[in-house]
Amino acid sequence: MIRVKARPGVSASMPWGTQRQRTKIDALRIIEDEHRSLAAVLHGMLHLVREIRDRNAEPSFAALGAMIYYIDAFPERFHHPKEDQYLFRVLRARYPDAGRLIDRLEEEHRVGAHKIRSLEQALARYQSGGQREFAQFAAAVDDYAEFHWQHMRAEENELIPLAKKQLTAEDWAEIDRAFLGHADPLVGMDAGKEYRALFTRIVNLAPSPIGLGAPSRRRDAH
Ligand SMILES: [Fe+2]
Ligand SMILES: [Fe+2]
Repeated sequence: MIRVKARPGVSASMPWGTQRQRTKIDALRIIEDEHRSLAAVLHGMLHLVREIRDRNAEPSFAALGAMIYYIDAFPERFHHPKEDQYLFRVLRARYPDAGRLIDRLEEEHRVGAHKIRSLEQALARYQSGGQREFAQFAAAVDDYAEFHWQHMRAEENELIPLAKKQLTAEDWAEIDRAFLGHADPLVGMDAGKEYRALFTRIVNLAPSPIGLGAPSRRRDAH
């Protein structure tokens, strides 16, 4: 199964579970869960690249393609817009001093959207052009993964603690409604189901030990 390795600053558990903070749990729990899913896919992609580079494994284009599709469909089109439209907007209004941090994180959302296009193109070139395109693809995977670790770390270590300090119970109620899918039918349960199905597909396609697929085969030595 795809496992999430602990990364500095991207903790595996949430410390804030007290009854008094009950109202703010939903959105933060969902953001953390979504970060964990993305982290698992990034680790899976880095693992596949390492297997190709270090063990001469046959590339699984189906698994790599499904992982990149997931990143495009999920964080880029679903997770980041929810952060922008609800958590960031409400925090900016409530606490203007957070403006610089929010500007930076919003800019990273825009940069991420370009980076995922580059990653898609690098995969297409690798698939069509073969081994001579691998180094560029591997570099694009490293770049995207590093970029996103830093982004998630900044949200979890800088933005969320600030939001927990500054936002009121009413603010959290509005944000929770949005993250639970009650404010926008497009961000509702169906989307959640769709992304879980996509994630399952990756787990089924990815070669063991990271997924349930057959182990990667070695390419023939030339
Ligand atoms: Fe974000
Ligand atoms: Fe995020």
